[in-house]
Amino acid sequence: MQKLMKVCAAATAVALMTAVTGCGTSSTNSNTATSSSSSEPTLVLATSADYKPYEYHDTSSGQDKIVGFDIDVANAIAKQLHFKVQIEDMDFDGLIAALQAKRADFVIAGMTPTAARKKAVDFSDVYYQAENVVLTKKGHTVKTMNDLSGEKVAVQLGSVQETAAQSIPNVKLDSLDTIPTVVQEVLSNRADAAVIENTVATGYVKSNPQLQLNKIAGMTENGSAIAFPKGSPWTKKFDTAIEKMKQDGQLQQLANKWFGGTQ
Ligand code: ARG
Repeated sequence: MQKLMKVCAAATAVALMTAVTGCGTSSTNSNTATSSSSSEPTLVLATSADYKPYEYHDTSSGQDKIVGFDIDVANAIAKQLHFKVQIEDMDFDGLIAALQAKRADFVIAGMTPTAARKKAVDFSDVYYQAENVVLTKKGHTVKTMNDLSGEKVAVQLGSVQETAAQSIPNVKLDSLDTIPTVVQEVLSNRADAAVIENTVATGYVKSNPQLQLNKIAGMTENGSAIAFPKGSPWTKKFDTAIEKMKQDGQLQQLANKWFGGTQ
C-alpha cells in the first residue's frame, strides 16, 4: 500500500499516469497478465473472494492468492486488451459502491446483471450462466421455495439470492457478508436452508457430506456479467474480448477447468 502510493505519487508528478484509476486504493493481491509490459495501464478489479470456484483465496502454495474462474477470465481479457490487473477484495455488498466511487475500474464477482443494479452501473454481456439451488442438511428436502415458508434462510447480503428469498412467505431472512458464513449457518443448524448458486453449492456438498443440494424447478439466476462505472469506456472493449473468447472456445475451456464443464 505504502509502496503503491509512493509509486502513484511519483508517476503523477512526472505526468506519466494514463487516464485510468488505480492509485489511492489499497492492494491486497495483484495478478498480472503474462504479456504485460510497463507501458500498460493498470485496472483495479474489485471482487468478493468468497465464492469458490469463481473467486477465492488459495493458500495451498503457502501464499495467499486470489484465484478462480473470474480471475482467469479477467486475466484473459487483460491479455487481449493490454492492461494489468490489480485485485481488490471486499464484501460483495460493497462492490457497486466501489464502482460508483471510482475506487475500482471493473467488478468481476459472479455478479448477475439485474435491472436494479443497471441503474447504478454498466454491465458487459453475460459470460456465464448459472442457477440457484437450496442448500439444506441431509433429510430436509425442499422442492419449491414455498416449502421454506416460516423457516430461517441464510443468504449473502446484497445478492440476488437475498432478493429471491425475500419472496418466501413468512421467511426469517439471515443475511450475511460472505458465502462460507452462509453455509456455516446451515451446517451449525442456525439456519434451515441457504439459497446459493449451484456451481458454488456443489463444492460445499462435496466437502460436507451432511449437506444436501435441492434443485428448485424454474429457479434461474440470469448469469454473470462484468460491471463498470456508468459510462466507462471499457464496457464495449470487454464485450469484444468476451465475444472473441466465446468464439474461440477459451471461455468454455475455462468453464471446464473450474466448473468441470457444466455450462
Ligand atoms: N450472482 C449473485 C448476485 O449477483 C451472487 C454473487 C456473489 N458473488 C460473490 N463473489 N460472492 O447477486
